[in-house]
Amino acid sequence: MLRIFLAASFFTVVFGACDWPNGTDTALHWWQDPSQFCTVYAAHAEDLNGNFEYPINLTRPVVAVLNVTNGGPAANKVQLDISIMEYGGFTGCQWNNVPTFGLLSGLNGCEYAACPIPPGNQIIKLKIDFSQFQNIINLLNDHTPYQLDIKLTNKDTNVEVTAHVQAKVIT
Ligand SMILES: *[C@@H]1O[C@H](CO)[C@@H](O)[C@H](O)[C@H]1NC(C)=O
Ligand SMILES: *[C@@H]1O[C@H](CO)[C@@H](O)[C@H](O)[C@H]1NC(C)=O
Ligand SMILES: *[C@@H]1O[C@H](CO)[C@@H](O)[C@H](O)[C@H]1NC(C)=O
Repeated sequence: MLRIFLAASFFTVVFGACDWPNGTDTALHWWQDPSQFCTVYAAHAEDLNGNFEYPINLTRPVVAVLNVTNGGPAANKVQLDISIMEYGGFTGCQWNNVPTFGLLSGLNGCEYAACPIPPGNQIIKLKIDFSQFQNIINLLNDHTPYQLDIKLTNKDTNVEVTAHVQAKVIT
């Protein structure tokens, strides 16, 4: 019993023994999966006043600013799905899923970004207020690296784009 307790308290601080993945101590890191919907050329986070933001403060709304090219027709119905992973954990320095209770799945993307998303190159601003998902925020640790997998699906054509965003967050 004591050994289990000691092991648990040891592993709760295990992130301290890990390096920040992909330079996330100082900057956001992102990449996208191959997509027939959109190509993402640049991504960063801003606060509601348009100021560059890093680390990302999840206790207030954050705006994901994406330079994308929509390679297809205008997207009128867009679904947003987000999953979250935390770095560190019981078995060493790796990404572990954070439960999101389905709260971040099947969202109406047009409530977070302006629709329609026209064809061609443009800046998309995705405003996300994680503070309305307090159950999830409560599970997150301050000044820790998280990965958000942000998927947008064009519901008319069923093509999708997933951006993987790794960042230090403030909770
Ligand atoms: C770092 O980023 C690359 C993509 O740029 C990704 O393939 C790799 O898994 C990331 N490493 C970690 C530890 O997350
Ligand atoms: C994060 O945002 C909250 C709410 O606006 C603010 O009170 C807090 O000071 C911010 N934290 C940091 C480290 O900027
Ligand atoms: C997106 O990035 C590309 C490459 O840096 C740039 O040429 C283009 O002007 C940017 N698009 C917008 C809408 O800012």
